[in-house]
Amino acid sequence: MIELRSDNTAGVAPEILAAIQAANSGSALAYGGDDLTAHLHEVVRSVFEHPTARAFPVTSGTAANSLALSASTPPWGAVLCHPSAHIITAEGGATSLFGGGAVMQGVDGDHALIDADRLRATLGSVRWGDPHESQPSVLSLTLPSDHGTVYQPDEIALLAGIAHEHGLRVHVDGARIANAVAALGCSPAEVTWRAGVDVLSLGATKNGALSAEAIVVFDDRIAEELVYRTKRSGHVTSKMRFQSAQVAAYLTDGLWLRLATHANEQMATLAAALESVDGVRLMERVDVNLAFVELSAAAAEALPDAGILCYRMTDSSVRLVTSWQTTAEDVVEATAGFRRAASAS
Ligand SMILES: Cc1ncc(COP(=O)(O)O)c(C=O)c1O
Repeated sequence: MIELRSDNTAGVAPEILAAIQAANSGSALAYGGDDLTAHLHEVVRSVFEHPTARAFPVTSGTAANSLALSASTPPWGAVLCHPSAHIITAEGGATSLFGGGAVMQGVDGDHALIDADRLRATLGSVRWGDPHESQPSVLSLTLPSDHGTVYQPDEIALLAGIAHEHGLRVHVDGARIANAVAALGCSPAEVTWRAGVDVLSLGATKNGALSAEAIVVFDDRIAEELVYRTKRSGHVTSKMRFQSAQVAAYLTDGLWLRLATHANEQMATLAAALESVDGVRLMERVDVNLAFVELSAAAAEALPDAGILCYRMTDSSVRLVTSWQTTAEDVVEATAGFRRAASAS
C-alpha cells in the first residue's frame, strides 16, 4: 500500500534517532535545566537570526498552539484565524480551554489564506472596549495552510502590520513550517519575526521527530507567561533533554529543510502526474507536501483496492500527503494506482 494519509504516519528520521541516542549517555539535570536544552536556545537564535528568541519544547502541535495562544490573549480575547485553521477545526477547543475561555473567530480568504481586506473589515467592525463582545487579541496564521498553500513573506508582513495596528499579537501555526520555508526559499526569519510574527509553533513531528515540537517566542512577555503555562499544562517534561536534542538536531545543518524539500518534491511530482490522469482533478494549488484531489465517488471508493492509503474528505475528494519517507517509487506506484481506480469506476 502507498502511504499518503498523513506525514504523521511516517517514522522517525535516522538523524533524529541518532540525536536521541547521543543524548542517552550519562545523566543530566531534569526539567530543561540540561545542556542540550540550553543548546536548543542557541540553535533557535542562530537559525532564526534573533538574539533573544526562546524555545519551549512541547509534545504535540495542539499543545504548541494552545499554549502559545493562551499566553498571548486575555480570557476575553478572540483569536482570529482562517475558518479552515487546525486550531478552530481540529483541536477540540484546546485554545479556549487554556485561554480561560478565549474564543476563535474565522476570517476568510481564498486558498485557505486570510484576506487582508477581510481582516481590516473584521477589525474595523469590532466594538472595542465593549465587554459584550470578545476583543480580538491575536492573529493566528497557518503556514503552510491546512490546504497546503503558503503566504509569501510580504503577505505575512501585511497581515501582521494590520494586526499590530489594532494591538493584536501575531502567531504562526507552523506544524509544517519547514515545508513552507523550503517551498518559499526564504530565511526562517523572513516568514516570522521580520514579518512581524511574535510567536511560532514550530512543528517537527510530522517531518521526522518523535513527539517533539517547540514554541519559538520572539516576544519576552509571551515567553514569561509560557514559563508557567508550560509547567501547569504538564509540558515541562522531566527528561526534556530528549526533546531538545531532537529539535536542535532537526534545525542543525538544514536537516529540517532537507527532509521537507524531499516531501515537497515528491508531492510536486505526484501532483504533476495526477494532472494527466483522466477523471482526477487537483482542487487547490500545490505549494508543499499536501494535495486535495477531486474524483468520482466510485474512483475514490476504488482507491484502497488500487493500493492507495489516503484521507477521504468527501464522497468525491481525498487529501494526499507525502512525507520525508515517501520514495520516488511510491510516487510512480501511486500514480498507477490512481489510474487504475479512475478507470475501474
Ligand atoms: C496545521 C496543523 N496544526 C497543528 C496540528 C496539531 O498537531 P498535533 O496533532 O501534534 O496536536 C496539526 C496536525 O495535524 C496540523 O495539521
